[in-house]
Amino acid sequence: MLNSLSGRFLILTTIFVMLAEVLIFVPSIARFREDYLLAHLERAQIASLALLADDMLNPDLEKELLENAGVFNVVLRRDEVRQLMLSSPMPHPISATFDLRDATAMTLIRDALVRLVDADQEVIRVIGAPVRDAGLLIEVTMDAVPLRTAMIDYGARILVLSAVISVITALMLFLAVRVFLVKPIKRVVGHMLNYAEAPEDSRRIITPGAGIRELREAETALQSLETELTQALRQKERLAQLGGAVSKISHDLRNILTSAQLFVDRIEGSDDPLVKRLAPKLVGSITRAVHLCESTLAFGKAEEPGPTLSRVQLAETVSDVIEAERLAVDNYDLSFAEDIPAMLTLRADPEQLYRVLSNLVRNARQAIVASGQPGEIAVSAREDADAWWIEVADTGPGLPPKAREHLFVAFQGGTRKGGTGLGLAISHELIRGHGGTLTLLHSGPDGSTFSICLPKGDGAL
Ligand SMILES: Nc1ncnc2c1ncn2[C@@H]1O[C@H](COP(=O)(O)OP(=O)(O)OP(=O)(O)O)[C@@H](O)[C@H]1O
Ligand SMILES: [Mg+2]
Repeated sequence: MLNSLSGRFLILTTIFVMLAEVLIFVPSIARFREDYLLAHLERAQIASLALLADDMLNPDLEKELLENAGVFNVVLRRDEVRQLMLSSPMPHPISATFDLRDATAMTLIRDALVRLVDADQEVIRVIGAPVRDAGLLIEVTMDAVPLRTAMIDYGARILVLSAVISVITALMLFLAVRVFLVKPIKRVVGHMLNYAEAPEDSRRIITPGAGIRELREAETALQSLETELTQALRQKERLAQLGGAVSKISHDLRNILTSAQLFVDRIEGSDDPLVKRLAPKLVGSITRAVHLCESTLAFGKAEEPGPTLSRVQLAETVSDVIEAERLAVDNYDLSFAEDIPAMLTLRADPEQLYRVLSNLVRNARQAIVASGQPGEIAVSAREDADAWWIEVADTGPGLPPKAREHLFVAFQGGTRKGGTGLGLAISHELIRGHGGTLTLLHSGPDGSTFSICLPKGDGAL
């Protein structure tokens, strides 16, 4: 109840109406007291007029007149000289005097509140102006207890009334909130849950139908969100199916090509000079085709497994990479430089780190060899408080525009003949798996530099 929208409305409305009623209560109780006193003055004035007919009233009649008026004494000053006066014995001396002729609202409120609190048996004197200009001034003494009782009665009636009003108002608001807010919100939530069960089903997308503008806007926003999501899901599904099909084709193609490779190996032994000359080219093409199929299959094996972190002596790994590359260059004019602090140990998956470095160094080597110019490849590393940094720089021709536009996108950035365009994409993914980044720092006619940043995180080495 307390946590539901309509429940909170119910409670808040009750509180607010009660507050409003209190604000009304104070002035009205003051007003009630004033009316009560004026009524007594008026009745006393009428009673005192009996003296006009007969100066000497008999004491029984005087007592009856005063009792009817609800006062002990009356003094009605007709003019400067004449005054009419009825009197009876008072049970107590007068304890307070109230002049209604020039009472301000504040005084009336204060006197009323004091009277409500003060339960003493008191006699009070009240002064007022006679009605119908029947004299200069009228003054009565009266008992304060009946006044207080009447005020309490009146206050209780007001309180009961406010309670009833607030409960009725709160109930009506409660129902209104249920109908106009809670129900439509529940409808939207129901739609969301229904959609979440099968987001690829476009029939489950919400159709905006709320009458309330704000809610309708939310529904419209939700509708476009769901439409986009459903489309994206469908596209993804289609791509996944396509990927599956490509994998199957690659697999079978690789098998076919492998058999072809065997035949070509045989053909290589032929005596025909033309065949002898063309066979190695054929072998090269088929080998590249097999490589493409295998890379596609490898890439299709979804995500790379997460890295298994351990301590890696970076200098050793880099030496291994460079050693392997040196074998591949034969006697081309290409030099390698390593600038790795001997003690530098970092936390990474050794196998994955090797693959990344070897991809970068191989790319650089292939680019330099393809350019026909002599060159150098330098691998350097450093560490700071938060991360390890490894840089692979070369003096090659720089990345071609196509490779730069599709940097780290699988199959798209490859420009090298015989390459698949997967090396950089895979390296990027592997480094990301370490929580790090692989970036191209610089690329131009004077060479390219790739930088790897591996954050240290809070794992102790
Ligand atoms: N150091 C570099 N200097 C110049 N060009 C580079 C360098 N590194 C990458 N490239 C370019 O970026 C392209 C993409 O490289 P990537 O390693 O992703 O694919 P690839 O080498 O073509 O194929 P493979 O999947 O066999 O590695 C390369 O084809 C090459 O043109
Ligand atoms: Mg490559």
